[in-house]
Amino acid sequence: MAAPDAGLFVGLISGTSADGIDAALVRFDDAGVAVAPQCELLLGRTYPWQDALRTRLVELGQGGDARSLEELGTLDVQVAEAFAEATRQLLDEAGVAPAQVRAIGSHGQTVRHRPDGARHDGQHPFTWQLGDGNVIAERSGIATVADFRRRDVAAGGHGAPLLPALHATLLHSAAEDRAVLNLGGIANVTLLPATGAVRGFDTGPANCLMDAWCLRHTGRAFDADGAFAAQGRLDAELLARLLDEPWFVLPPPKSTGREQFHLDWLQARLRGGEAPADVQATLLELSAVTVADALRAQQPQTRRVLACGGGVRNARLLERIAAQWPETVLESTARYGVDPDFVEAMGFAWLARQTLAGLPGNLPSVTGARGPRVLGAVYAAA
Ligand SMILES: Nc1ncnc2c1ncn2[C@@H]1O[C@H](COP(=O)(O)OP(=O)(O)OP(=O)(O)O)[C@@H](O)[C@H]1O
Ligand SMILES: [Mg+2]
Repeated sequence: MAAPDAGLFVGLISGTSADGIDAALVRFDDAGVAVAPQCELLLGRTYPWQDALRTRLVELGQGGDARSLEELGTLDVQVAEAFAEATRQLLDEAGVAPAQVRAIGSHGQTVRHRPDGARHDGQHPFTWQLGDGNVIAERSGIATVADFRRRDVAAGGHGAPLLPALHATLLHSAAEDRAVLNLGGIANVTLLPATGAVRGFDTGPANCLMDAWCLRHTGRAFDADGAFAAQGRLDAELLARLLDEPWFVLPPPKSTGREQFHLDWLQARLRGGEAPADVQATLLELSAVTVADALRAQQPQTRRVLACGGGVRNARLLERIAAQWPETVLESTARYGVDPDFVEAMGFAWLARQTLAGLPGNLPSVTGARGPRVLGAVYAAA
């Protein structure tokens, strides 16, 4: 198998929250992939979406329908143009010329994730990320790898999570059983036993429901540090109704998105008349309970949970997760030299490197795919 090239990669992602475009400039050493590569974040930045574009992407991601094929085609290019512009700004600030960069790995923006098919009957499963790799390569002048998830879905997997392999590379310890917890729009965990196979799966909402409820009732895009939740009281009956969702008890492999956990899902479980802050407090507890329950069920001997993603900034959320599971230590990945805001973007740089080397990017033990697969499509530099 070809050895991967050493060098510089850019990783790009806008996650389920569509809160911004995360861009990471990453340098890999030349030790090869068989040995865990050294992987250094040289610069990480989050660039804002243009407001109207973001609003539309969020609507689509929450289950809204595209108005027309024309709209979808246009959005595909608009997302790609924004990603290329993010790359330009990142490299500008880093003082790196595009020609020095080996490749971009672009996740794009998910607008629909249906690993069990549109009718949940297992027929025609799909996942769909916008952000045409042709446009990113053309605008940036850098070879681009994109469309990472769909090959795994074609091979019978969920196409998600794709980050566990990188989590293992960066954060595995032979001395203790660990888990990595990504608190994005959706929460996902990677199980890293001291010995044995890596596993990983989504556990449900982390921030997506809290964000949506907070926006509706305060006009703010997210609940900074859980302050709104702190004004309310846990509604135990509502929590029980929310936890009644059958998805939570499905065994892994499993993945989900905003098309499942959105305001209509919440609305259908409200009695009416609840105080908005009480609902926010309950949503925060829902995230904490579902994360802790899923981790405990799948890897009860976990000694340390290392958290990343935007939810790490929500001290109240971390406090409630820790309270659910006092026997484990909960820390930010920052304590292990991994910037919690850019783990995902680094992951797509890593996936691009795998693809160019002809190496698989998925872990079948995580996604449920029939086997390891080289992921994504390569769009050569001009
Ligand atoms: N200071 C803060 N207090 C509370 N929550 C915060 C704070 N900063 C960020 N967040 C939360 O983090 C979210 C963004 O996190 P992140 O970028 O990891 O998620 P994402 O883009 O949805 O990624 P993923 O693909 O992992 O779901 C915001 O939408 C917000 O809910
Ligand atoms: Mg984000």
